[in-house]
Amino acid sequence: MFSILVVDDEKLIRDLLRDYLAKNGFKVDTAVDGIDALAKYESNGYDLVITDLNMPELDGIGLLKQLKAVSPDISVIVITAYGTIESAIDVVKEGASDYVLKPFILEEVLIKIQKAFNIKTLSKENVALKTELNKTFNFKNIIGKSRKIKDLLSLIKKVSLVRSNILITGESGTGKEIVARAIHVNSGNKNGLFTAINCGAIPENLLESELFGYKKGAFTGAYKNKEGLFITASNGTIFLDEIGNMPMSLQVKILRALETREVQPIGSNEFLPFNARIIAATNSNLALAIDHGTFREDLYYRLNVIEIKLPPLRERSEDIPLLVRYFIEKKYKGINKLVKGVTPETMELLCIYDWKGNIRELENIIERCIVLSDTERIGAECLPAFVKNPKSRSLPKFDRNIKIQLLKDAAREFEHDYITYVLNHFDNDKKAVANVLGVSLASIYRRLEEETPQDKKK
Ligand SMILES: Nc1ncnc2c1ncn2[C@@H]1O[C@H](COP(=O)(O)OP(=O)(O)OP(=O)(O)O)[C@@H](O)[C@H]1O
Ligand SMILES: [Mg+2]
Repeated sequence: MFSILVVDDEKLIRDLLRDYLAKNGFKVDTAVDGIDALAKYESNGYDLVITDLNMPELDGIGLLKQLKAVSPDISVIVITAYGTIESAIDVVKEGASDYVLKPFILEEVLIKIQKAFNIKTLSKENVALKTELNKTFNFKNIIGKSRKIKDLLSLIKKVSLVRSNILITGESGTGKEIVARAIHVNSGNKNGLFTAINCGAIPENLLESELFGYKKGAFTGAYKNKEGLFITASNGTIFLDEIGNMPMSLQVKILRALETREVQPIGSNEFLPFNARIIAATNSNLALAIDHGTFREDLYYRLNVIEIKLPPLRERSEDIPLLVRYFIEKKYKGINKLVKGVTPETMELLCIYDWKGNIRELENIIERCIVLSDTERIGAECLPAFVKNPKSRSLPKFDRNIKIQLLKDAAREFEHDYITYVLNHFDNDKKAVANVLGVSLASIYRRLEEETPQDKKK
């Protein structure tokens, strides 16, 4: 269970946050000001501190600085009043994970906390070097018999023989990481480590120290020398995932490293040679990012010596039956031993759905079906409404009377009516509708509960 310390001199806010966060599954303590908070942090340690900015004695910024000095990894969220956006920027500069503007909505605080924890777990995962040693990722795990998959496998075989940089592109969930692992396992580097690092999920300074390492004393918290991934990966493979999200300043450094095959740890004068192979991946359009000035063209060419384009699942739907069988018989057979396959109707629905989340989405849905199924063959009733119901692709005509009113009232009324209309279409399955409309379940509820101008008149 994650632990949180809530720091505020106003009792009302303290209690409100404590009760709300405890209800959401966190272990919560409170402190009345910065001094009290530091004392409590020293004796208990917390995963996250959420603090007000203006407090007597030690204020929020002072507390943030002192916490970061003793524990550079701690996540701190600062609550600050509207109209003081400069102080919000200051706190982020001082290392706060995020800020919340007062008056705040509790849900917003919760979302920011969840975001901070997610980043933290990811960076911990990366810090612990995602070095699950060569998990058995070889061709056996890449399922498919379509022309596109056959071409892909033969390309993987070829590129495994050389050490050129590779760029893997494809929509989310198309298998970029498993292809990178397959190349690693089949290449001469297979005795080295495969190290994946998600360039989009870790804050910029942490990413830099992870990749290049640092010298003792290079910055606050650098208590001893640390080797970067480029060095620890040694004869292995470095997988730079979501390269499109790499900050510009780091792109320059990566480019330099790739050109010289040397890295310079932060705070050091030395350049260290490395021989790991680099595979980068992205689901964004780098050509567009170059046009927009957010990705360096020279780095693009340096990374993209060989490009492997992964096709979306909807372009190779002949592989769907094989994948379904693979997930049921191999990957998830332990969950529900009763399940042996799917009904023809279910298979047909799976084959015509357009799988925006690609294989990962298919895999998640099959896992969910296996859990839910009471029969040997998974029936269509186990499928989520948006897969089961091809109606989700197009709706019948949405007829309404239009009247002159304020734009904001019209928008609210439209949203309310539109959601009700789509819900109707999906047999009131709010989760499916949230999914289809691309909003959270909470915002479906909120919009339905909101009073429309019509209601007010009643
Ligand atoms: N051809 C395949 N055969 C079997 N399983 C696959 C195949 N391709 C992908 N998968 C599975 O689908 C899931 C998603 O794959 P992966 O994580 O490699 O995708 P990705 O392209 O890196 O996605 P993202 O862009 O979201 O990070 C994984 O569980 C992976 O094992
Ligand atoms: Mg991935």
